[in-house]
Amino acid sequence: LKAVAIVPAAGRGERLGPGTPKALRALAGVPMLVRAVHSLAQSPSVELVVVVAPPEPVTEVRALLPEDQLGATVSVVAGGVTRQQSVRLGLSALPDQAEVVLVHDAARPLVPVELVDAVVRAVWAGADAVVPALPVTDTVKAVNAQERVTGTPDRAVLRSVQTPQGFRRSVLEEAHGKAADGPQDSTDDAGLVEGLGVSVQVIAGHEEAFKVTRPIDLVLAEALVARRRAGTAR
Ligand code: CTP
Ligand code: MG
Repeated sequence: LKAVAIVPAAGRGERLGPGTPKALRALAGVPMLVRAVHSLAQSPSVELVVVVAPPEPVTEVRALLPEDQLGATVSVVAGGVTRQQSVRLGLSALPDQAEVVLVHDAARPLVPVELVDAVVRAVWAGADAVVPALPVTDTVKAVNAQERVTGTPDRAVLRSVQTPQGFRRSVLEEAHGKAADGPQDSTDDAGLVEGLGVSVQVIAGHEEAFKVTRPIDLVLAEALVARRRAGTAR
């Protein structure tokens, strides 16, 4: 069961604070992007990883990812202004044969290989689109422009979605092709596929697939790396 992976890594990481682009920031000494690519390449189902890098350091990024140490082929292309554009640029760099495509945020460096495999399996089992998700723990409010609460959706029907998200390639391409004209860029590939009326399958996500977004997330990520190193848990 084979798949190719697109890793959007071209964001600036504004919520993490000023400095190096987020994907290139170190997590216990290793850039997040390198960890994310390793996590994917660890899966026997991932044959090729297309990294969508921040434009300036493409060459630098290439040098960080020696294929002989990875177990997968890696190509690096320059990204766009939004995540949606970056994923589209990654899609246009895929080889013709690729049938199953994963999209995985560089900002989720510690995704367990079991989750990667589960997503690939679900696509090969027939799903057009697969998202890993966890129940929402906070109560979520909808608000208006004046920060007045306009509603409280029932938490039981809400999920926090993660990556890798998995797709039949033709479905993802159609979704991104149609989305090109939309005014609002999507932060989630499954969202674009929903727009086609295609059904999206949810599978159980994993706590360790969390996204590094704010500084506090780095604290958690470093602690998790330390725990894995200690060998007490993976
Ligand atoms: N991403 C991308 N191209 C962009 C914007 C985002 O490839 N133009 C990638 C990021 O590098 C990240 C993933 O999409 O791996 C998820 O995005 P997010 O967590 O929002 O990262 P950033 O956009 O970098 O962070 P921020 O929104 O805080 O600036
Ligand atoms: Mg962003």
